[in-house]
Amino acid sequence: MSIKGKHIVLGITGSIAAYKAASLARLLIREGAEVQVVITPSGKEFITPVTLSALTGKPVVSEFFTANDGTWHSHVDLGLWADLMLIAPATAATLGKMANGIADNMLITTYLSMKAAVMVAPAMDLDMFAHPSTTRNIEILKSYGNIIIEPAAGELASHLIGKGRMEEPEKIVERVRDFFGKQDSLSKKKVLITVGPTYEKIDPVRFIGNYSSGKMGFALAEECADRGAEVVLIAGPVSLSVSHPNIKRIDVESAEEMYQASISEFPTVDAAILCAAVADYRPQEQAKEKIKRKSDEMQISLVPNKDIAASLGEIKKEGQVMVGFALETNNEVENAIGKMKKKKLDYIVLNSLKDSGAGFRHDTNKVSILDESGNKTDFPLKSKTDVAKDIIDCCLGRKK
Ligand code: C5P
Repeated sequence: MSIKGKHIVLGITGSIAAYKAASLARLLIREGAEVQVVITPSGKEFITPVTLSALTGKPVVSEFFTANDGTWHSHVDLGLWADLMLIAPATAATLGKMANGIADNMLITTYLSMKAAVMVAPAMDLDMFAHPSTTRNIEILKSYGNIIIEPAAGELASHLIGKGRMEEPEKIVERVRDFFGKQDSLSKKKVLITVGPTYEKIDPVRFIGNYSSGKMGFALAEECADRGAEVVLIAGPVSLSVSHPNIKRIDVESAEEMYQASISEFPTVDAAILCAAVADYRPQEQAKEKIKRKSDEMQISLVPNKDIAASLGEIKKEGQVMVGFALETNNEVENAIGKMKKKKLDYIVLNSLKDSGAGFRHDTNKVSILDESGNKTDFPLKSKTDVAKDIIDCCLGRKK
């Protein structure tokens, strides 16, 4: 994928690896990108803005104002201009400020105003990288949707050997190329994703629900959005947040609400990924007041909910792709194939409860994907983010 014409804000911070940022800028420019450097005050101690502006052909931004004429540098405009913000090298201090919104320099204000995706290449000594605060800050940044380019292991500036060395500029450019390639592979596509559990009210304070966390569906939504798709995320009650500009989130509570939202959105989408753990039944009556405890037995009559996947399958048009999920405890493959046929799905993703680390609430998952023709592809245990990539590659087309 070409990065020609892409607008890249290159953030440089005060690490010895800042010298590599000059090669990075040069490589990006050579591939046709426009590069605007934003450097922190300590970054300037390591590499001079003159070198960077000579390489990029643009004055380097560092201060909020230009001292001699009082010109204000707009971090908001940079946030709108960029197709990507790449912070390389990122020190432990910058990671901490990014994670916590400590906007005391131009690089952090630009980061906080950024509309485009952000890639971060940390660089620091091995002990700093291994410190729990760094690990935590990186996890926080990942939860914001930032892409972390893991540092490499090797000899560090301190002469110690370990992990912390900023990834080589050539490798970073490869990741940038990959990002833009991936970003475009689902452009002009609209994808509906149902996620999470549904809550079926018993009375004002009680419900029937399940353990679905929504993690798998949110990972799918992020991945589709990263590849340029417009995503409609119909979410049951989950405690996850999403910040991608391509994702429109519709929060629902019950299966009926999820059904209504799905039916109304489905006609406009190219694909639907039905990841939600929809309650099969709801209480026939919903008590208006909290049900009081009684000493004798109590029964709740349940009535079936609509099957969202099957209902969408009925109105599916030529070209629309439908992906469902199955969580089985016995006769896994046979049951999954049965569901795929019944619901008119094109693919079904089978998770097995037998695998440790897979299924509800875990950050990892182990799946097999079955298609209409009965082909089965087994994947190893992976993070839900990586499983999302496999599912999208397999069901919505390989990335370019
Ligand atoms: O039949 P079962 O619930 O195992 O089927 C699972 C698949 O069907 C999942 O993709 C799930 O999101 C979808 N489903 C649905 N509406 C229901 C029940 C399941 O969309 N009421």
